Amino acid sequence: MKPLPHSSQNVTVTTLLADATQRTLADDVLAGLTSIPKTLPPKHFYDSAGADLFERICELPEYYPTRAEREILVAQSAEMARLTRATELVELGAGSAEKTRVLLTALDNAGTLQRYVPVDVAEQQLRQVSEAIAAEYPGVQVHGVAGDFLRHMDAVPAGDGPRIVALLGGTVGNFVGVDRTDLLAGISSILRPNDYLLLGTDLVKDRKPLEAAYDDSQGVTAAFNRNVLEVINRELDADFDPNAFQHVAIYNEQQEQIEMRLRSTMTQEVTIQALGGLKVVFAPGEEILTEVSAKFTPERLQQDLANAGLEIAWFETDSAGQFALSLSNPQIRS
Ligand code: SAH
Ligand code: TRP
Repeated sequence: MKPLPHSSQNVTVTTLLADATQRTLADDVLAGLTSIPKTLPPKHFYDSAGADLFERICELPEYYPTRAEREILVAQSAEMARLTRATELVELGAGSAEKTRVLLTALDNAGTLQRYVPVDVAEQQLRQVSEAIAAEYPGVQVHGVAGDFLRHMDAVPAGDGPRIVALLGGTVGNFVGVDRTDLLAGISSILRPNDYLLLGTDLVKDRKPLEAAYDDSQGVTAAFNRNVLEVINRELDADFDPNAFQHVAIYNEQQEQIEMRLRSTMTQEVTIQALGGLKVVFAPGEEILTEVSAKFTPERLQQDLANAGLEIAWFETDSAGQFALSLSNPQIRS
């Protein structure tokens, strides 16, 4: 299918989703709920209700990553602008791009910024953010890409100056194994020698603050987790009762990752009409793995980047050492 461009003034939004998201949702749900143990991939959390719930997560007292990452951006954006001389910021999984404005302002103040390219599967939010940023930064082009950063990296428009490709919020940690390898390799493939990957990674720490960050006292994270069942009910005509699933967030110390699950509180059978009336049976206590959020040591970060041909050029944490931002470059091979 051809991308559908939409333009107003200095804003363009290219869409690669259309009916393709529904197809991948159906494929993912079929594969995930018929496997043992049951799983669901993370990108389906972010319909418009999910995007709103995620905004609320970012403001929770227990959810430190957003504040810690913003602290680093506030302290270091001028330095990053100086180091990179970036004319362009490409942001994968931009979401509300709230923190991004700190960096955009620094690049704008340095006089180098020409274009901002947010990429996200949450199309409605992406359109709003693209319009808002174009209005806030006159003279800066905004080219939104509504797409999947695992499948549509080739739709990111080519840039003509040095650029920063950012993946903030610890999103890289939501991808494990071959998905993380593919994601970093995909990013690496669009970086030229003077381009940088700006990566936000949550760091390994004690179990207590980690589990609190993913199981808050107001139940917002629980609602966010259960929302994926509402997405499946609506998009695939299924009959999940979200209240019959308990939100579980546990830190797996061996794997250094938070694991989020939905645990069936009873024996139940769910019918998914759009999958030919597929019936999925849950035993009491049976779980669906819905999200992993990996926590990094500097060594693990360096290793994952090296596997994608990238080398850390710059690394900073917040003052409490909770979260890290890094800039990395394509390795020079001899
Ligand atoms: N960068 C923001 C939002 C992080 S939440 C912040 O730091 O707060 C993760 C974002 O990535 C969501 O907006 C979600 O819609 C998007 N996302 C998740 N998987 C994606 C995928 N495969 N392709 C594109 N966007 C994705
Ligand atoms: N990238 C975020 C993180 O791993 C995503 C996230 C935060 C999330 N809270 C969540 C995903 C709760 C699912 C459920 O921190």
